[in-house]
Amino acid sequence: MSQSSGPAALMQQAEDIMALNDRGAYTVPTHGLYPFQWNWDSCLVALGQRHSNEPRAWLELQTLFEHQWDDGMVPHIVFHEPDDGYFPGPDVWATGRAIPTTGITQPPVAGFAIRRLFDDAIDKTLAKECAAQLLPMVDRWHQWFFNHRDPESTGLVALIHPWESGRDNSVDWDTPFERVPVEGITPYVRRDLQHADADHRPTKAQYDRYLWLVEHFRSLNWDNTKLHNASPFQIVDPGFNAILIRSCDDIAHVADALGHADIAERNRAMASKGREALELLWHEGNGQYACYDRVEKTLSDSPSIGGILPILAELPVHRAKAIVARIQKLNASVNYLVPSHDPEDSEFDGKRYWRGPSWLIVNYLITSGLRTSNEHALADEIEAQSLSLIETSGFAEYYDPITGEPCGGASFTWTAAMVMEFCQLPRTA
Ligand code: GLC
Repeated sequence: MSQSSGPAALMQQAEDIMALNDRGAYTVPTHGLYPFQWNWDSCLVALGQRHSNEPRAWLELQTLFEHQWDDGMVPHIVFHEPDDGYFPGPDVWATGRAIPTTGITQPPVAGFAIRRLFDDAIDKTLAKECAAQLLPMVDRWHQWFFNHRDPESTGLVALIHPWESGRDNSVDWDTPFERVPVEGITPYVRRDLQHADADHRPTKAQYDRYLWLVEHFRSLNWDNTKLHNASPFQIVDPGFNAILIRSCDDIAHVADALGHADIAERNRAMASKGREALELLWHEGNGQYACYDRVEKTLSDSPSIGGILPILAELPVHRAKAIVARIQKLNASVNYLVPSHDPEDSEFDGKRYWRGPSWLIVNYLITSGLRTSNEHALADEIEAQSLSLIETSGFAEYYDPITGEPCGGASFTWTAAMVMEFCQLPRTA
């Protein structure tokens, strides 16, 4: 795909894609493949929307939080309008909500996004009003995580389904997936393969297990007091936890500004306990963090992006330096940072979703963390590579990190939102 270049042209193209996928009060990730509202997509998309329309950005978040469950969970998909083009739809999840949602969650980037919207707002009155409304909701979601996904109070939360991680088919899940059965699942027809190349998507063996877990949780009536312990899949993902820790820090900052000392104190306490516990996930051999399998009680050897994302959580200096060195090492194996899996590992697959491709939202979270740790040179390098990827390959869902080939869905909303952020952020070097 040929693109006219330069930041102004890229901004315009990004805005057009976001407008194309705008459904009024929420945005779909892309037409066809993902026709509903996804949790972390929406929070990151709001960061792009703020550049042209701050009220619309706040509305994106408000719409998502309108569907928060009574127990505090914010679901991973909200099925606003019926659409047969996606599987598994509301009838499979059967969560019993008037406007249907799934029964699992996604990476909690909301707190992080809200702080950015709040701190940089041009309309300060609107920002205060919207942040004050959202703050207790985000706080409840954060508490939900520690109440329901950390029953032994370790300071870190577990995922009970790979879709919660946002990194659906990562190599990280391969070993724990061996104990997820497939017997007894209702026969199904995948819809994703009608919209994207099968070689870029998860396999049937993985889909069967995704479905087994959904049916298992459904049989427990989506009761979050039971799901964690009843799940054969309980994984402590360092990237996911780092996002939660950062969001707790960011919500504490906003709570201070709005005079909510209780929310600030609670979120700071969750963040500092989590940051301390994160150290247990350090994998010396890989020079990065690793997933912990709570059922087997083992640390994974899989060198995935999940172990690099903790840079977002304001790490101790020696750990931040180690992550910088790790990304620099990966830079020698790829043309477009940051690959979702190490190309030197035998499981790397440059085109298959979360098993190798580079994703702009990941690059954005990593550069945000690098900047928090004052590692601006590497952040600049990742941003430059991200924008050159867009100029050569367009606004795809993800990209082969070696060839730059666009993969997955096209005209992708969060890719566009991240381009808006990268084009508008002040450069430091
Ligand atoms: C895929 C991604 C997930 C994302 C969703 C919508 O499932 O793995 O992270 O939220 O698509 O874009």
